[in-house]
Amino acid sequence: MKKYFYYFFEKLTTFYINCPEDSFEYGKSFRIPKGGLFYGLKIKYGSLSDCKIPFESNNIFNENNDSILVPISAVAKSFDNTKIMKIEFVEHVRKINSLVNEVEIIKKLNALECQSAPLLLDSSNLKLAFLKNILSEVDYRTLSLLGVKVVEYMITEYIPYERKVSLADIVLAMLEQKSLGYYQGDLKPQNIRFDSRKGLCVLLDYDQAERINKKVRDMSASQFFSWCNYRDSEKYSLKFKNWMRHFGYILPKISCFFLLKNGAFDLSKTSIYRNQVTTNAAGGIYHTIKSKVIFAEGVRTLKERALLLDKVEFELNERVLDVGCNAGLLCHYLFKRGCLPWGVELDAPIAQAAKVIANILNVKSKFSVLDLDKDHLPESFDTICLFSVIHHTRNLEENCLKIARCCKRILIECRLHEKGKKPIVINGNTSWESTSIWDYKSEEDLYEGLSNLFPNFHVKRKVGNADKHRILIEMVKK
Ligand SMILES: C[S@@+](CC[C@H](N)C(=O)[O-])C[C@H]1O[C@@H](n2cnc3c(N)ncnc32)[C@H](O)[C@@H]1O
Repeated sequence: MKKYFYYFFEKLTTFYINCPEDSFEYGKSFRIPKGGLFYGLKIKYGSLSDCKIPFESNNIFNENNDSILVPISAVAKSFDNTKIMKIEFVEHVRKINSLVNEVEIIKKLNALECQSAPLLLDSSNLKLAFLKNILSEVDYRTLSLLGVKVVEYMITEYIPYERKVSLADIVLAMLEQKSLGYYQGDLKPQNIRFDSRKGLCVLLDYDQAERINKKVRDMSASQFFSWCNYRDSEKYSLKFKNWMRHFGYILPKISCFFLLKNGAFDLSKTSIYRNQVTTNAAGGIYHTIKSKVIFAEGVRTLKERALLLDKVEFELNERVLDVGCNAGLLCHYLFKRGCLPWGVELDAPIAQAAKVIANILNVKSKFSVLDLDKDHLPESFDTICLFSVIHHTRNLEENCLKIARCCKRILIECRLHEKGKKPIVINGNTSWESTSIWDYKSEEDLYEGLSNLFPNFHVKRKVGNADKHRILIEMVKK
């Protein structure tokens, strides 16, 4: 019985919500300033009473006032399928935000490097006359008669429909935006996409989005989802008691509790975690993350290492590169020490996860994908951290030279005996290739070996012993 119960919830974890593709039947093309060629205006209509139009004072429509359809907004897609344009003809009373407010929200999310929001590419306004040949005659006439002269527009990146989106990925996106101070507020399949370039869920459409206060931002994941339920019933209707009401029959009934433990969301359920390949261990997760919002049960915490790193001096705004940063634990520590951390990582999904996790935990750090065996370092740094990583690279000597040329200090964590391995992914299957090996008899031998590997550097001191016979060593330029 218990087995079936778990099977049922495991199935729900990967429950996929079908998010439909937009259709753009209209088919006319037009140029907009700076934005290029667009096609297919898909217009949303409302009656006069739906829109912010005082129709008593409007003597244009004497008969059947409320049956007159007013174009409210339109969307169009660029011919190259990379951009989407939204135009607002009149403000809609039932939307919290006008287009100008929506633009402000997306701008803010972009400025905060939110990974789960689309990029804003342009926003401005257009004379209505510019749209004369695109709108139907009756729509153009209606808007002209209502006195609309100028319309606002925005252009964002277009994220095509590629596959269904799992509830876990949606939850991750919502938690990222919560930490950055926003609730999208209109979670329905049309507003949800899976962005396969990032391997993440992206939430579209911010006309019902709202800024949330510190109390909500600071909530645990479970508190936040209860708040979302409450907020949706308050905003839309008391009949709706669940922010997932558009997600079929079962999910709204059981809520998303099966993705949470002790109030926090289990990162291992997300696509980015399922697709990462960095850890050759049973659970496949390297960094243990524990907060009231998210958690991951990995093979290493920062605990012992933080005690050692507390003995290392860092200057305020010190530029520190963490090579093989994984989910970013070390960068979190460095940020708290006042540094400007930058994590680079071979595995794209975990580098992407690191960005979202940092946003959720309110850590400021850069993260990018980089394979030390192939790529140049992005710039020079004050310190480069090599924690349990350099032996996992193939070209050990070349890579150490690369590191030595780009910094003044190296913090390296390693053992006397190391046998490196690198993941190779072919057609979705991971195999592990042996990389570099060393075998030193004593710590002194290791220090000498490292001094040879990193030209012009010498071992300043052993900072201390970390877990599993690892040693933390500080090296500086001679
Ligand atoms: C053993 S884990 C150590 C993670 C982290 N440095 C720590 O100590 O907590 C090694 C990490 O280095 C990454 N890595 C391995 N080879 C790499 C390479 N050539 N370039 C960049 N990252 C690499 C792996 O993907 C993995 O995330």
